[in-house]
Amino acid sequence: MLDVQGIDSGYGNVQVLKDLSLRVQAGEILCLLGRNGAGKTTILKTIMGLVRAQKGNIRLEGKDLHLLPAYEVPRRGIGYIPQGRRLFTEMTVAENLQIGLMTRNQGPEVLEEVLDMFPRLRERLDQRAETLSGGEQQMLATARALCLKPKLLLLDEPTEGLQPSMISLIRNAVLALKQQNVAIILVEQRVEAVLEIADRVVFVENGRSALETTPEALQTDKELLHRYIGV
Ligand SMILES: Nc1ncnc2c1ncn2[C@@H]1O[C@H](COP(=O)(O)OP(=O)(O)OP(=O)(O)O)[C@@H](O)[C@H]1O
Ligand SMILES: [Mg+2]
Repeated sequence: MLDVQGIDSGYGNVQVLKDLSLRVQAGEILCLLGRNGAGKTTILKTIMGLVRAQKGNIRLEGKDLHLLPAYEVPRRGIGYIPQGRRLFTEMTVAENLQIGLMTRNQGPEVLEEVLDMFPRLRERLDQRAETLSGGEQQMLATARALCLKPKLLLLDEPTEGLQPSMISLIRNAVLALKQQNVAIILVEQRVEAVLEIADRVVFVENGRSALETTPEALQTDKELLHRYIGV
């Protein structure tokens, strides 16, 4: 599905990713773990074309992504929920969702499906996004990405700062997408959450994928967590 091969990328003269490779299959949840500043967000931004890959290639279903302008990437079926939310805040909830739908020409039935997942947004369609609570904004960011009907979904710490009931809503949404054969890359600090839903785990260290493992292996070898994320 997604194949990232030997990527170098960074900001100005600062190289962050170094020869980074990873893959994710349809219906698979790949979790990225790593210390603050390891390069996890930069990986997602590079896939989205928001940060340019200087070397290597990124392919979605065999087609090059890394040569496309950033606005083309969501149209190929990649939903992105950035770290710390980024919404069109002057706009209403409904308008934000409309942008998601328009990106891939999805109809009203997709909106209905998404609003069924997040009923709280249905009650707030006319509310300006900036007046939503933090947790509601995170729901909206997630809902907007789902309005694309993505083949691949990238989530960057989607549960940061959320209460348990919101966390389980987002977790259920991720699992429902997996059932629908969506490929998922999840950056998450909460190790217990990763262990529950990941198919595979990649530790990112200094802009490289340092180790690939499984939740089962992590359960039995806690030393790995200590070594790569210091917990
Ligand atoms: N716009 C930018 N300009 C310059 N350097 C940046 C920029 N964004 C990130 N960096 C640097 O790139 C490195 C990797 O950052 P990145 O945000 O990818 O880390 P992360 O693994 O997502 O960390 P966290 O867990 O704290 O979110 C850091 O050293 C960071 O300071
Ligand atoms: Mg980050």
